[in-house]
Amino acid sequence: MGPIGLFDSGVGGLSVLRQLQKVLPQEDYVYFADTFHMPYGPRSKVELERIVFSICDFLLSQQCRAIVMACNTASALVLPHARRCYQEPLFGVLLPGARAAAQVTRNGRIGVLATEATIRSNAYPEAIRSISPGIEVYGQACRSLAPLVEQGELEGAQARNAVHQCVVPLLLQGVDTLVLGCTHYPFLLPLLNQVVPPNVSLVDPAEHAAREVLAHVSSAVSGGGNTKFYASGGVPQFTRVAEGLLGATVEPQAARFRIAANGLIVELE
Ligand code: DGL
Repeated sequence: MGPIGLFDSGVGGLSVLRQLQKVLPQEDYVYFADTFHMPYGPRSKVELERIVFSICDFLLSQQCRAIVMACNTASALVLPHARRCYQEPLFGVLLPGARAAAQVTRNGRIGVLATEATIRSNAYPEAIRSISPGIEVYGQACRSLAPLVEQGELEGAQARNAVHQCVVPLLLQGVDTLVLGCTHYPFLLPLLNQVVPPNVSLVDPAEHAAREVLAHVSSAVSGGGNTKFYASGGVPQFTRVAEGLLGATVEPQAARFRIAANGLIVELE
């Protein structure tokens, strides 16, 4: 059986990979970091569809038997359409995150920290209200957080101020639950825990997404627990930051996008 493929605009999806490795340690994984197109947050749905479809095609060409969109922006904007186009199982992080948040809230007020595109898509409020119509959902677009994590800036004044600016407006709305609606944000947990009061629950969709994958993916014949990495740009920086976040050696192979007649194609360098 083939590996499980995952992708994100950069290091964010590693927060999903490490949760998957916890629940499915014997699986082999292929991780595609689209550092060439990072950040996804300011991009349009049309642009993201083109990018995401080419990454899915690439992962399937690497024999992946299932794909996890380890990215909230892709899960919000592209996953529903992609599910209609591919036969292979496709998983996302948004619905598992929405379900978890709807279960956790006690006062029915949930805040969502996410990229501009995820907030604009309204996918979190729609998903949460489809589960529990009475819940109020407040979104906060955080332009600077994912790029900070991508550079490995997880502490210090700049990161602290950025986290503060994103979280405070949601706290002022009286939320008792905060969804980390971008896979880069769990790496800011130490800072978030300093800013967010203890009576507010933090929900990391990655944990819940990994359990959903576990429930659907048959591990009857498993691999050796190996992960292969690809990065579409800035390989040295991705390697440095990814190794710091995972505490393990990462040796990504360089990949690039080529414009073809029928869309984008990912090729190995
Ligand atoms: N990590 C991604 C997400 O979950 C995308 C961050 C970005 O590239 O803007 O939304």
